[in-house]
Amino acid sequence: MEKRMDRWIRDPALSSEGSRRIAWAEARMPVLMRIRERFRRERPLEGVRVSACLHVTKETAALVRTLREGGAEVALCASNPLSTQDEVAAALVEDDIRVYAFRGMSEEEYYEAIGRALAIGPEVTVDDGADLTVTVHKLAHGIPSPELNWVRRGLGAEGVEVEGIAGGTEETTTGVIRLKALEREGRLLYPVIAVNDSPTKSLFDNPIGTGQSTIDAILRATGILLAGKRVVVFGYGRVGSGIAARARGMGAEVIVVEVDPVRALNAAMNGYRVCNSLEAARVGDVFITATGNINVIRREHMEVMKDGAVLANAGHYDVEISLKDLRDLSVEVEEVSQHVKRYRTRDGRNLYLLAEGRLVNLVAAEGHPSEVMDLSFSLQALSVEHVVKNRGRLEVKVHDVPAEIDREVAMTKLRTMGIEIDRMTEEQARYVSDWRLGT
Ligand code: NAI
Repeated sequence: MEKRMDRWIRDPALSSEGSRRIAWAEARMPVLMRIRERFRRERPLEGVRVSACLHVTKETAALVRTLREGGAEVALCASNPLSTQDEVAAALVEDDIRVYAFRGMSEEEYYEAIGRALAIGPEVTVDDGADLTVTVHKLAHGIPSPELNWVRRGLGAEGVEVEGIAGGTEETTTGVIRLKALEREGRLLYPVIAVNDSPTKSLFDNPIGTGQSTIDAILRATGILLAGKRVVVFGYGRVGSGIAARARGMGAEVIVVEVDPVRALNAAMNGYRVCNSLEAARVGDVFITATGNINVIRREHMEVMKDGAVLANAGHYDVEISLKDLRDLSVEVEEVSQHVKRYRTRDGRNLYLLAEGRLVNLVAAEGHPSEVMDLSFSLQALSVEHVVKNRGRLEVKVHDVPAEIDREVAMTKLRTMGIEIDRMTEEQARYVSDWRLGT
């Protein structure tokens, strides 16, 4: 472990492996690389201090290096204690980026690392799940919270100057929900761009990225045959619908559990079996949560599950599967392999928990494929630039990504894929914008 003021990483000797993996990702992120080229020329972030709390993966490295090329000074901490790729963290410190992340951090270390990332005195925050942004707000509002003691250990006595923060960005659904709750209470202190909600993110990253990487993670961890299995997906939102489609593509019989009638109907009409959670618990072989909600799989479900059931979570926090209930029900826990734990229940069944109930695709696999993160992180880079360009002019609220940024990223991605699309004729453009014109 190397712990210094400017870094806290597992092993600096891993850096050359990390550099090779980052190069692999960057070769698959052509949109972000074009943005990097422009940032290198124009330096739109010259001297801007950015605190980022993201999964420390090779794709995140590509983003952070792009911000650096734009002139930013970046401090990066992990947005999950188990998702850090240690070799990537090692490579990034060689690029003059402050990194405070290693795989397997304790909760205490996780928050201390957030404190360290905040210690540069951010002008922009980049977040995934809103732990960093919420920390800033708890400190500023003086809201007592046990984790703040750990944050302060990393941050030092000076604290964070909220007045100096021009704005932030947020990567995921759970983070946006928390920020909107802050806004509703009138307590949001600086503008934040909800990168998650832009179409070029949520139509691709959430369903397609999580869909593929969740299946990838389950297979890497267990090697089970999905064909013929009953896979139960909890939540048929942006993420869940993608997981359901990918599981079906592997030959599984997919069952959907929902609480929203519209989403449930959508699943039913897409040909999935939809039923309530207890019924699904009795028949499922593999259970995947993707709701952003708490205790979605709990004791009553675990009590009726079949021997051998596999439980995994793709939602942001490790709260969707009740670990407490699983422990309470069990008489024995055994580590089967790195990402698989066997819980033996009192009545003699085995339930297998993957990745300790944390987002399985980032813990047991490598997160989203680079090609998808090319979109999400291009939006992030341009959103950071937007915040800096409009410093002091953005209303303090949760903003959408400006539509022109969204379109620019989608259009550039199409071009890099060699795809040309049509333009409306002038007549068509008039037709779709004039209320007078009809049949
Ligand atoms: P969403 O809001 O589109 O979908 C969530 C769905 O879960 C909704 O349809 C909702 O009705 C349903 N739901 C809520 N409570 C439920 C319950 N008790 N039982 C069954 N269904 C329930 O949200 P999205 O974008 O799909 O995100 C879901 C979670 O995944 C969030 O925590 C998000 O941050 C996370 N996420 C994880 C990624 C990863 O890489 N693993 C990537 C992107 C998002």
